[in-house]
Parts: sequence; structure tokens; C-alpha cells
Amino acid sequence: MSLSRKEVLEEMGLSPVWVRRDGPPVARRAPTDAGTAARGDERAPPVREENRSAATSSTIGAVDPSVGVERMDWNLLRRSISECRACGLCAERQQAVPGVGDENAGWLFVGEGPGAEEDARGEPFVGQAGRLLDAMLAAIGLKRGEDVYIANAVKCRPPGNRTPESAEMAACFPFLKRQIALIQPKLIVLLGRAAVSSVLGEEGSLASLRGKTLAFREGDREIPVLATYHPAYLLRNLPDKAKAWEDLCRARALMRKLQGK
Ligand code: URA
Repeated sequence: MSLSRKEVLEEMGLSPVWVRRDGPPVARRAPTDAGTAARGDERAPPVREENRSAATSSTIGAVDPSVGVERMDWNLLRRSISECRACGLCAERQQAVPGVGDENAGWLFVGEGPGAEEDARGEPFVGQAGRLLDAMLAAIGLKRGEDVYIANAVKCRPPGNRTPESAEMAACFPFLKRQIALIQPKLIVLLGRAAVSSVLGEEGSLASLRGKTLAFREGDREIPVLATYHPAYLLRNLPDKAKAWEDLCRARALMRKLQGK
């Protein structure tokens, strides 16, 4: 999806929208994306540490049970995700949504879970929240698929677009962990509470985590992590777009530093 500069600024709430006095009223579109964030509720159930470590490759039902998730290559990982029956979300999915983008990306963005459109198309963030995410990326000079990988805390759509439960996020976490290990991103941006809960096992509010540089341990590396609002939440809470913009600017500055620029 390619957006003009004007569209990007408008999506981010960064440009005044001039309305002709005699023109039609500006219509606000209703969000249709999944989960907590779409309901404007940025609280998600925390993934407890014991659950995160309890979810191992043996709970996943991998394609080849002799290959643990932690040793899978991309092809096996994608197949394993698409055939996964580790939690109840598999029952109602049309298809699993592993993730999309550059498998050697510097940037990893993590959302909550697929919504209806993502479930139908097999790609994350293709609905209305996805349009805003693309605008957020464009605002800091990024483009889906170019040095950017997009994944979710859970790979299957929670029925009725509800928030994924903590056990579901824990069951899916080995996949996300393996994606992080394969990508080796320079920076991870967590979109909303569910992503924070899944990746960091953090229980704090998003407001208390924003603006801090957090870390995810991957092998002997600490990958810097920033948290910001989920695009679906921002569609409902327009004033917070300014805060998300601050977070994005911070992320861009941190990335420049990490790149030694
Ligand atoms: N919301 C998410 O968190 N992920 C998607 O893929 C779509 C909407």
C-alpha cells in the first residue's frame, strides 16, 4: 500500500484537515480491526513467566516433531505455524497468519493477532489498522517489507476479534521467539499491550512503558524494544496519535544510533 505524504500525515493525525465551509462533513470511519486495541482498551492479560517457559516445541505439534521450534528454518516454521493446534484458536481460523516482510529486517513490529481480513488473506495488518500502520511506517521513512517485518503475538484469529488470552499468547510465543531469532532485528516495536505482554511478560500499563528503552534477550544479545499504542487503539483514541508519533520519532532516532548514523 503506497500512501502520499498528505495521506500519511492525515492518517497520523498530523495535518490539519481543512474542510470547506460549504463542503460535506468529514466522516469518521469506524474501526473494524481485532481485539483489545480495537475496542480502545489497551489492557491485555499478562503472559506469566511460567506460562511462557511452559510453552515448548512439544506443545506445538510441529510438522517434524524431531525438530524443535527453536531450530526451525523459515520454511519449517511457516508450515509448523500453519498446522499448529497448540491452542483453541486453530478451531475457527481460516488460516494462520505467520507474519510478513523482510526476513533480515532491522525493524520488527509486533501486533496482537489477526482480525477477520488478516484471517481471510493470511497477511497481518491488512485491514483499517493496517492502513494506519503503513502510514506510521511511512511517517518514519519505512515501508512494509523493506527492512521491516510485521508479526503478531498470536498467529490465529481470536473468535469475534476478542483479545487473545494469556495461555494462547504463551502457546504461540515459541513461534514469535523463533521469528525474532531468525530475523535478528536491531529494534523491536511492540504495538499495544498484548504484544508487550507476549514479548516481555510485562504487566505494566502501556502509558508507563512508553518512552522507555526495554530489552528482549535473544541468545547472548539484548535487543532494544520500544512500546507504543496499537494502531486499532489509535483509530479510536485520536488524541493519542500525537504520543504514538513521539514514540515513532524516538524509535527512528534509536535506530539511527544503533546503525551508527
Ligand atoms: N491487529 C493486529 O494486532 N494484528 C493484525 O494483524 C491486524 C490487526
